[in-house]
Amino acid sequence: EDFVRQELGMLHGMPLYKSFIEAWPQVEAFQARPDDLLICTYPKSGTTWLSEILDMIYNDGNVEKCKRDAIFKRVPFLEMSVPDMPGGIELLATMPSPRLVKTHLPVQLLPKSFWEQDCKVIYVARNPKDVVVSYYYFYQMAKIHPDPGTKEEFLQNFMAGKVAYGSWYSHVKDWWEKRKEKRLLYLFYEDMKQDPRPEVQKVARFLGKELPESLVEKIVHHTSFQEMKKNSAANYETLPEWVMDHNLSPFMRKGITGDWKNHFTVAQNERFNKHYKEQMKDSELCFRMEI
Ligand code: PPS
Repeated sequence: EDFVRQELGMLHGMPLYKSFIEAWPQVEAFQARPDDLLICTYPKSGTTWLSEILDMIYNDGNVEKCKRDAIFKRVPFLEMSVPDMPGGIELLATMPSPRLVKTHLPVQLLPKSFWEQDCKVIYVARNPKDVVVSYYYFYQMAKIHPDPGTKEEFLQNFMAGKVAYGSWYSHVKDWWEKRKEKRLLYLFYEDMKQDPRPEVQKVARFLGKELPESLVEKIVHHTSFQEMKKNSAANYETLPEWVMDHNLSPFMRKGITGDWKNHFTVAQNERFNKHYKEQMKDSELCFRMEI
């Protein structure tokens, strides 16, 4: 049943799924609570990984509690709205505090209430070359997306901001700027991969906690790619096939840095680097592009 595949619509100039746009008035009017914690990312940047880490911290490392439900129920996706499934807003309405909230919204579209309530935000950014590869496979397996076309076509659309959630460049830069005025922790997927321990401690400290080393170890183990891939509460495999088809590509696909090297041609890489430099020249943000 391919009936869910959607062409993208436009929300205030940003390409987005039409069913999300239909529910936008409710999302825009969302009432945040002061103790909501917002997990914010451009798609495919480590959202699920950070979500699992946070749920583990919130539950003092109790693995069984973290298997109480699927990750998309434990950490509702704010702007998500598709037919025949409870949307992010609905899930959040009945959820006890303190809530973990996932969003991919760019700064300028975040519902005002999060700022009014001075909610803490954790942002994760990832090397855009790996993001675009991961996104290409996600377009195939998550049936809400239009057909991604060829890798070359998808790469061009990504660079032009013509994919769901628009320009990666603006997303990472605008959230980076927000760091200066808001309670925002900005993390990188590559740092988490290189050594998750200090990043888990950073997250805990941001929440006002200091974790014993043994608990950090437990969290790092439970949230490793291998563990999450086989954990049905984390790997999205409980969703029906008409929503995500893991036969086309698993949600937990590779979980590595540098997979772009297996996908980019030399010419594509050169073109990407040049475009990246232009797009990022007005920002002090620094990505490790070669790893
Ligand atoms: S989404 O749909 O935007 O919420 O996806 P998101 O969770 O942000 O990104 C999915 C990619 O993250 C990888 N992943 C992980 N990498 C390392 N460690 C852990 N624990 C982990 N969990 C998920 C996942 O495999 C996707 O990346 P790719 O490169 O496609 O494998």
